[in-house]
Amino acid sequence: MSQWKIHRAPVILTEIMVPGDKSISHRAVFIASLSNGPCVIRGFLPSEDCLATVAAMRALGIRIEQLEPTTLVVHGNRKQLTPPTESIDCGNSGTTMRLLAGILAAQPFKSRLTGDGSLSKRPMKRIIEPLTEMGAKITTEGPKGSPPLVIEGAKPHPIKYFMPVASAQVKSAILLAGLFAKGKTSITEPVQSRDHTERMLSYFLVRPQRDDLTVSIVGEQTPESRDFTVPGDISSAAFWMVAAAAQTGSHLLVKDVGLNETRTGVLAVLLRMGAHVREIIDEVDEAEPHGSVEIQGGRLKGTVIQGREIPNVIDEIPILAIAAALAQGTTTIADAKELRVKETDRLAAIATNLRAMGVDVTEQEDGLEIVGGAPLRGARLESFGDHRIAMAFAIAGLFAEGETIIDDVDCVATSYPTFYETLERIMKPPREPQIPVISSLPPRDE
Ligand code: S3P
Repeated sequence: MSQWKIHRAPVILTEIMVPGDKSISHRAVFIASLSNGPCVIRGFLPSEDCLATVAAMRALGIRIEQLEPTTLVVHGNRKQLTPPTESIDCGNSGTTMRLLAGILAAQPFKSRLTGDGSLSKRPMKRIIEPLTEMGAKITTEGPKGSPPLVIEGAKPHPIKYFMPVASAQVKSAILLAGLFAKGKTSITEPVQSRDHTERMLSYFLVRPQRDDLTVSIVGEQTPESRDFTVPGDISSAAFWMVAAAAQTGSHLLVKDVGLNETRTGVLAVLLRMGAHVREIIDEVDEAEPHGSVEIQGGRLKGTVIQGREIPNVIDEIPILAIAAALAQGTTTIADAKELRVKETDRLAAIATNLRAMGVDVTEQEDGLEIVGGAPLRGARLESFGDHRIAMAFAIAGLFAEGETIIDDVDCVATSYPTFYETLERIMKPPREPQIPVISSLPPRDE
């Protein structure tokens, strides 16, 4: 198990690109696999989670060539899959397990999905209920309805489903099962979650319809094979955005990053906290809008993050909690109970680590109250096996007095295998001038 040693960093004055979006990479592989021919996927994220999806589709008979780490050719086979010869290991990836369960619920064979220690504790009832209603027989082997999952698929019935929790994974599992049903499947979410599955299906010329919080799909359609380029992951960029936003004099340009509105809540929160943030959208006519984000650092102030905004920033709460600790005043995060069932209990992990760094934090059932502005102390911290906790606290370490040690950081390979390379670049004082950032922001008044 590796560890990182982090120390205070100079201001950030650079341009960066981040690896491909994790959510979109998974969906590109799933939907291309169901299409009617070869699809070249560029900008794919070669992380452990997304590679678990590739391995799973290969185990179901789909030929997938990896020409380069980030370029795949997925040979779609018209929604025809072959029964797996053994259990499919989803590793740490909730997206792999839940979306794949949707596809497998519609197959005329039996399959078994396993995961690592963390995934084996995550709730699956949320997908089992709707997929059972559609006709699949799903049993769990873990305690309290947790994985491994054994799925006996069947031709799905279309359903009208009202989701009790806002979850893109649950919505996507039902949409993918609905692709095999005869008739129209509709899903209503309590709050809009990320819409990558709907967009990807549209791009592959299967047209889901949206009416406010309801999305419907007419089944028995086959996605048309097409090439696709995955934009950079805004959830990965968020770590560097906060590092730049919280430091006066920093100026960062992140290029070619996904700017889908269901994911850009982090920019809205940073703006409210007083950061200078600018989005420049390059492309809107592809499946996913993408462009650049420019950040100028300064003094941040506390804010409230709650309600409908939560699903949009669900993966950014750990790094936004660091922004909160660095801001003046109190930040309240509420309605975020879902964080307790992510790769770890993220509310507890954030509170424990922030306290170790000297921050006053109150943990609520569904959120946190963080009193910002106290100097951060370097400390020895655990990742709790959670990639986003490890990365968020590495950024906190850049602002701390003394050394910050983060234990058990191998988990970062699930979403951002090259994170530490960028971190090292940022921690080293530049020997030569860094790439100047051409500003499109008005001058900042402090
Ligand atoms: C994801 C959806 C979110 C998010 C996860 C990826 C996806 O989970 O936290 O990292 O790709 O659909 P939920 O939909 O369960 O909230």
